Amino acid sequence: MGLATLTEYDVLIIGSGAAGLTAALVLAEQRKVLVLAKGALDGGSTSWAQGGIAAVLDEGDTFEDHIRDTMIAGAGLNRRETVEFVVEHAPEAIRRLAALGVPFNHEAGALHLTREGGHSHRRIVHVDDATGFAVHEALITAARAHPNITLRPNMVAIDLVTDRHRTDGHADRGRWDKSGGQAWGVYALDETTGKVECFLARSTILASGGAGRTYVFSTAPRGATGDGIAMAWRAGARVSNMEFMQFHPTCLYNLEVKNLLITEAVRGEGGHLLLPTTGERFMPRFDPRAELAPRDIVARAIDHEIKRLGLDYVHLDISHKDPEFVRHHFPNIYERLMTLGIDMTRQPIPVVPAQHYTCGGVLIDQAGRTDLGGLYAVGECSESGLHGANRLASNSLLECFVFGDAAARDILARWDDFAPPPAIRAWDESRVTDSDEEVVIKQTWTELRRFMWNYVGIVRTNKRLERAAHRIKLLKNEVNEYYGNFRVTADLIELRNLLQTADLIVKSARARRESRGLHYNEDYPATLPAARDTVLVPN
Ligand code: FAD
Ligand code: SIN
Repeated sequence: MGLATLTEYDVLIIGSGAAGLTAALVLAEQRKVLVLAKGALDGGSTSWAQGGIAAVLDEGDTFEDHIRDTMIAGAGLNRRETVEFVVEHAPEAIRRLAALGVPFNHEAGALHLTREGGHSHRRIVHVDDATGFAVHEALITAARAHPNITLRPNMVAIDLVTDRHRTDGHADRGRWDKSGGQAWGVYALDETTGKVECFLARSTILASGGAGRTYVFSTAPRGATGDGIAMAWRAGARVSNMEFMQFHPTCLYNLEVKNLLITEAVRGEGGHLLLPTTGERFMPRFDPRAELAPRDIVARAIDHEIKRLGLDYVHLDISHKDPEFVRHHFPNIYERLMTLGIDMTRQPIPVVPAQHYTCGGVLIDQAGRTDLGGLYAVGECSESGLHGANRLASNSLLECFVFGDAAARDILARWDDFAPPPAIRAWDESRVTDSDEEVVIKQTWTELRRFMWNYVGIVRTNKRLERAAHRIKLLKNEVNEYYGNFRVTADLIELRNLLQTADLIVKSARARRESRGLHYNEDYPATLPAARDTVLVPN
């Protein structure tokens, strides 16, 4: 068994989205940083973000209001100190992005602020309806230009390197045992060569995004397979609040194009949700805030109406507004819909809810630290306490900027405490062969995502969760056996992680004996007086 080659990098970051690149740019002031990304560098959710970034920038707005809105949306499960930390750092994060060249929209000399559900004020800065694309462009351009940052696309991290991979027989402290183990980097598959490399570093940051593709209908990109969450869990880190999967109310209903989000800002700028049968504007029946209620409420109302009336979709209509206003505010969505034969200035858009955001994740503290020494997690793969039981719109990119920065600064401040990596075993492929049954992967992937949608979706019951748990157990056994016998491929790595993530979602959902925020269980419809996190501990 060989030794892994030592890397020349100080810090390793898994993920080139908003969270990973923010951390990289801060660390690179003093350290050499390697950023790994699965597929293309812009393949994460960040480039797809539409609506914008929430920050208190309007004269009539206050931090207290943003904090309150975040906690109301989060159904009281948020950690207040984290909410305060993020909200208070938001204006500074926006200034940093503007300084990097993000061309935020302005009106009458000031930043234009749009509005989204759950916000009591206009507070969303944006770049038309394609904010994420502009933000990612600015971050990646700065990262490319930095001599201390190396970007490696097409690298799929497989597993974290921990004490259990040391060659010196050091005790296996990978399991969670309060003292925690240590993370020293990752094993990663080079998608272009099929070879597994070992990257070692004093500190590793997981910035690998969410797990939306656990569900058959999701607005998230293909690579959102919960890799960082699954890797951290296997390495011995605690994971929390995984039952809170967010469903966005308005994804385009189209048999060909399955994941086109119609930004919440359409409702923020006056769009109405209508029943396609009668034209009734139904949201006022469900909540006094109507279309601008938090997402969990709107998505559940749509789901209710679709099931009650046997519909395929409901309508989102903004055709009562001036066509020029609509085209000006939503140029990309307008163009995209026109190519599909829908003119949103004249007709309603058929929409359905779809999985959109992973509120739970690797449990972190206010500096992004996990249970393992040297291991940080930031962005959508983490659970910082900001979102609670339901993320407030446009608080997610914000979390990436604030926690990416905080984690990087913590690493720099503690640098002398991090030991150089010990000798680590190279990846062992001596007992595996190439797969002759790739069909297993496709079949399992499809099966998993369908039953997660049907059994662990917007409305849950004990029986459905139990059914999902049985199926996951079966599929996990099959996939683990497959993983033990065959050479890894990107698809196999993702499937293993999807199954692990699904398992964590279902375990968390079964542990919660109430309905709160995004988790609605018909067998426990009430909300308990005390809000408690669901923290899963690896054994
Ligand atoms: P991502 O941007 O998803 O990046 C993940 C990175 O990790 C990628 O580079 C990926 O390649 C890499 N990666 C993953 N697994 C591996 C692996 N095994 N090995 C190596 N690399 C890996 N939020 C807002 O606040 N405002 C919005 O307007 C908004 N709009 C949205 C619209 C859409 C359609 C979607 C899907 C989400 C939206 N969100 C929005 C949510 C927000 O975009 C994401 O939560 C945020 O971008 C996550 O950033 P991240 O850096 O954590 O992860
Ligand atoms: C949207 O534009 O509706 C997405 C905003 C978000 O996910 O925060």
